[in-house]
Amino acid sequence: MAERETWATRLGFLLAAIGSAVGLGNIWRFPFITSENGGAAFLVVYLLAVLVIGLPAILAEFVIGRRANTSAIGAFRKLGRPGWWFVGAVGVIAAFWTLSYYSVIGGWVLRYIGGSVTGNALAAPEGYFGAISVGLSSIGTHAVFMLITIGIVALGIEDGIELATKVMVPAVVVMLVGLAVFAATLPGASEGYAFFLDPDFDVIVSNFGSVLPAAFGQALFSLSLGFSVMITYASYLGEDDSLPVDGFSIAVSNTAIGVLAGLVVLPLLFAQGIEAGGGGPGAVFVAIPTALAELPGGELVGQAVGIVFFGVILIAALSSAISLLEAAVAFLVDNYGFSRLPTAAGLGAVVFALGIPSAYDTAWLNWFDGIGVTLLLPLAVLLVVLFVGWVLGRDAIDELRTGSTSGSLASIWLWWLRTVVLAVVVIVVALNLWDLFATPDTGYYFIPSPLR
Ligand code: PHE
Repeated sequence: MAERETWATRLGFLLAAIGSAVGLGNIWRFPFITSENGGAAFLVVYLLAVLVIGLPAILAEFVIGRRANTSAIGAFRKLGRPGWWFVGAVGVIAAFWTLSYYSVIGGWVLRYIGGSVTGNALAAPEGYFGAISVGLSSIGTHAVFMLITIGIVALGIEDGIELATKVMVPAVVVMLVGLAVFAATLPGASEGYAFFLDPDFDVIVSNFGSVLPAAFGQALFSLSLGFSVMITYASYLGEDDSLPVDGFSIAVSNTAIGVLAGLVVLPLLFAQGIEAGGGGPGAVFVAIPTALAELPGGELVGQAVGIVFFGVILIAALSSAISLLEAAVAFLVDNYGFSRLPTAAGLGAVVFALGIPSAYDTAWLNWFDGIGVTLLLPLAVLLVVLFVGWVLGRDAIDELRTGSTSGSLASIWLWWLRTVVLAVVVIVVALNLWDLFATPDTGYYFIPSPLR
């Protein structure tokens, strides 16, 4: 069998991991979830969630991946705990599941670039979204998005994912900075900043029960945790890397890019007096074009900004999608010696098929999102934390120390993981399960609405 691939450089790994973390979650979900939950106060809770739970959890995934040096499901056998293979399997299934509708949204974004070029997306935002987000049109753009994703993954780690993200991540940063500078020039932008950056803690105190799980869930999703992605990416890593430094860099970059996206979206909406709240998949696709259509300077300015804005989202979404597909591809390549191209194409085709209901009807998309992000994700994180904290134990400390200078830090990390992180994740899982099963009026129905 051919030798297993590795990242060409450490920076390559970092950019690939940042590319995975930065996605629809940062640019589409984050600004809206922040505005729905009280703006700046939510931001503070979110930062806390990243630091207290996200960072220790990402290190747990890194430890599994690098120590095993193989894909997520095979990793547990390599670590001498074969019975725990299902931890990786839950993650890989969750990745597969999530990619199916992530790609549908990616397809819409692709379509919106076209809609910005022609101006149609800005002329009648609500009608445009209604037309392109369902039926054959949405299935078609879903197919195109999956094809691009497959193409990059098929090229491999070094020549595909690493090369692509080396271009994509800097492009996202440059374009977002440009948009943020532009947004700052808009009249009314300062209200957007005030809302985003000046915390109103009353909102948090009075909505504690919903703000907390929202912030922690967003932190886990945004760092690409629970989908075996970070396990897989770390498995291509060398021994001389410092995992704590890598994890910290990724968490900081990911958060900074989310904040940057907020600095684009919120001034844009506030400048046009558009209600920032009202999440759901349609939010970005209706509210933003509405704001763009009213920009000072006329139609062409709106269209140009639209192209850049949706261009950023598209790139960010793609660099996340490839990591989701890679988690599954790596398993078949590593365990069965399958070659990459047919594996990526075959799995990609299955993901495409799984996404057809979501593309056809957004009610299905909401249901897939509900199950994926509220149930599978925290469950997978819980299993990882449990495994690394209580099963791997000393081996985990040993692995975290490899390539880094942190001595006692590793012991503190493990202790923190098995107690605080575990407890918080258990609470998040419990709250989400409650939401999923016991509160059909407010929460997600376990039975998809199209079948009810
Ligand atoms: N972190 C990505 C985002 O914010 C989503 C993602 C989750 C990607 C898990 C890969 C794995 O959009």
